[in-house]
Parts: sequence; C-alpha cells; structure tokens
Amino acid sequence: MLEASSRSQLQAALTPYKRAGKRVALVPTMGNLHQGHLSLVQLASQHADVVVTSIFVNPTQFGPNEDFASYPRTLAADREALRNSQCSVLFTPTTADLYPFGGDCAVMLKAPAALTNCLCGARRPGHFEGVLSVVARLLLISQAEIAVFGEKDYQQLLLIERMCADLGFATRILRGPTQREDSGLAISSRNQYLQPTELARAAALHASLNQLQQQIRAGNHDYDALRQAAIKHLQAQQIEVEYLQIVNATTLQSASNNDRQLRILIAARLPGARLIDNIGVEI
Ligand code: PAJ
Repeated sequence: MLEASSRSQLQAALTPYKRAGKRVALVPTMGNLHQGHLSLVQLASQHADVVVTSIFVNPTQFGPNEDFASYPRTLAADREALRNSQCSVLFTPTTADLYPFGGDCAVMLKAPAALTNCLCGARRPGHFEGVLSVVARLLLISQAEIAVFGEKDYQQLLLIERMCADLGFATRILRGPTQREDSGLAISSRNQYLQPTELARAAALHASLNQLQQQIRAGNHDYDALRQAAIKHLQAQQIEVEYLQIVNATTLQSASNNDRQLRILIAARLPGARLIDNIGVEI
C-alpha cells in the first residue's frame, strides 16, 4: 500500500496508474475505521484497479458544539487495517491541502434546501455544506472515476449523488450497503461510546426499522400512524427518538400513497451517543 500525505504526493502516486489506463476509485472517510468502512474499500476494489482511501477529519462539517476536537484519530490502527484490505493508496491530506485559502476564505458549496431542511440537516446546520465542500475537493484532487459512500448515511449519500449530477462531476457514485453487528445495530465509530446495556438497547433501532418495512410491505400505508407507534415503542425502551420519518427515497419529503420507493430514517439519542440508521422499502 502506498501512502500520500499531501495533494501533490497523491497526484504523483496516481499518475503512473492513470497513464496505464487504470481505473481509480476513492473511498472518503474520517478514519477510526471499522468493518463498515472496509466493506466500501472492498466494493471499490470490485469496480476499479486502484483504491484510494482518504482519511481526513473535516473541520467544516462539525458544528461549534460538536465533537471535532474529540473525534477519534487512530491513524496507526487505520493504516494496519487498510494494509490488510484491498486499499492501494492511503491518502491523509492536511487541512491546508484541502482548504489552501484557510477556513474563512474557502469556497463552500450550498446544499439544496429541500434535501437539507429535514432529518439530520435540520439538526446540524451547515453540516452538509461542509460534507459537500470536502467531498468535491477530494473528487477533484483524486480525479477518481468511482467513489463509494455508505447507505448508513443516507441523506449524505443522496446529497453527494445530487452534487455530482448537478455539477457534472465525471465520478460515478456507488452505494455501499450498511454493515451491521450481529444484533442488527449499524456499525459506527460512535458505538464505542455506548455502555454494554446501551449497546443491547440500541439494537431496537434496526428492529423497529425492520418491523416498519414489513408492515409497509404487508400493505399498511398509514405512514403517520406507523411512525407514531414505532416512536412510542422505542420510547418505552428508554430510547429518545430525535426523528423517525418515512419519506420518498429521492426527495426526502414525507411519503405519500403514490410513492413507490421509500426510505425510513431514524436518529436517536442514548446517554452515550447519537445514533442514526435507515432502511429502504420498495412498494
Ligand atoms: P465517516 O463517518 O468516516 O464515513 C465514511 C464512509 O463510511 C461514509 O460513506 C459512511 O456512510 C460509511 N459508513 C459508515 N458506517 C458504515 C456502515 N456501518 N456500513 C457501511 N458504510 C458505512 O461520512 C463521513 O465519514 C464523512 O462525512 C465524509 C464523507 C468522509 C466527508 O468528510
């Protein structure tokens, strides 16, 4: 595995591959890698000759009261995990590589309001502007043909797909399925903040999503009643639901009876961490 810790080093590492006509895939991450991230690396390797994994804790996507300073930075372990994966190049840019004019003078991308006024976007102002602004930079620097993002962060994935379609990026976005613990809990860096009893309770999130999926498939389309019942059920298990929405999978607006592709998304707070998860339903 090659390593590049600056923009110019990445370009130098990729030039020979590009000259030889090899296809480059990018897997952007913020590090503290787990099986979810590594599944994206594997998916990328099935579609490209060279897989670049970037690790960069992006300051512009954290709000003033969020965990940028304490976000786990575990480069040695991440490097080891990537060495044992299909990753060809580890890219660890500096803030100056990605924001050469500094935070205050950076060009930032504005996310469309209809896709950001809801769900996580409504609770984390400016978050998706930061995500799009860093992903655009990573795509441009790497000139990747393919980039892989997890369905675990569904709103993020949709916004990145929209950005690429709207701005005419040549990069093709691939969706990586959510990797889960045996309990069904979506794997996340934040799970490590949960006590064992909270971890057991957190499995109820996926169980609720599964149940809603089954109820909708069975023909129950009273979405508001379904979501109210699921919220009550979770609250009874001491899970504080921040949102639970059944939406059109493309517009993220509340689902109507004409919609055929739905997404059910949840965010919940346990004492140790805020967790998100989602599931698709086709009618
Ligand atoms: P991060 O939280 O490190 O996640 C990197 C990628 O891993 C994202 O595409 C995310 O959806 C995916 N991922 C996380 N948990 C997963 C799981 N359990 N199964 C499958 N994929 C999973 O998301 C970010 O970083 C940042 O916002 C980033 C896109 C890198 C921009 O800074």
